[in-house]
Amino acid sequence: MRIAAVADLHCAVGDRERIRERLNALAAGAAELLLLAGDLTNYGRPEEMEVLISQLLRLRLPIVSVLGNHDYESGAEAELQRMLREVGIQALDGEAYERDGVGFAGAKGFCGGFGRGELTAFGEAAIKSFVHTAMEESLRLERALSQLRSERRVVLVHYAPVAATAEGEARELFPFLGSSRLSDVCDRFAATAIFHGHAHHGTLEGRTRGGIPVYNVALPLLQAQRPPQAFRLVEV
Ligand SMILES: [Fe+2]
Ligand SMILES: [Fe+2]
Repeated sequence: MRIAAVADLHCAVGDRERIRERLNALAAGAAELLLLAGDLTNYGRPEEMEVLISQLLRLRLPIVSVLGNHDYESGAEAELQRMLREVGIQALDGEAYERDGVGFAGAKGFCGGFGRGELTAFGEAAIKSFVHTAMEESLRLERALSQLRSERRVVLVHYAPVAATAEGEARELFPFLGSSRLSDVCDRFAATAIFHGHAHHGTLEGRTRGGIPVYNVALPLLQAQRPPQAFRLVEV
């Protein structure tokens, strides 16, 4: 299956033309399915999502998405998910979806750091609740992966699951760019590939400890390539 993937479209109300331009090649049949790895809108407002959806529908492609932190900014995340599902987009939040023998497991994920730098649930209640959120998100992903029976299992998250694809961002930001807890789950379930966004100035490709390829498909990163790209194409 030829999959196109992009994250961090950050659609604003006046963005109809910009989004149309970015998605044009997809409308021409470049891929069989589109993955959207979160930060679909800038401030998580339903009117922003409306603009994005109007452009996505033109593509006539199956679409699988997760939300990102920006989509939570206005507290309207449930409404945004509903809008996506209403038009037939697979808006995953700890759920799985199968199509043509390929399985997709999606969750937003959370931050907390990588490897030895991973925050642990110790000390103040605020720290424990932060770490608890990171654990909850990895459990959501685990639940989704455990539902899949397909041989190929593609993971979609917003936050980075490994430090390698955050490389390029300021070191100080790493604890807020993602969490190793996400890649640990993927390794356990031997996922085929992982797509994420959020690290706008990260690195295109990395691998988990278990060797699973990880693709950072943040649009600003894709646009910084020569020539600029509007999405990443991967065959799974
Ligand atoms: Fe973003
Ligand atoms: Fe983000």
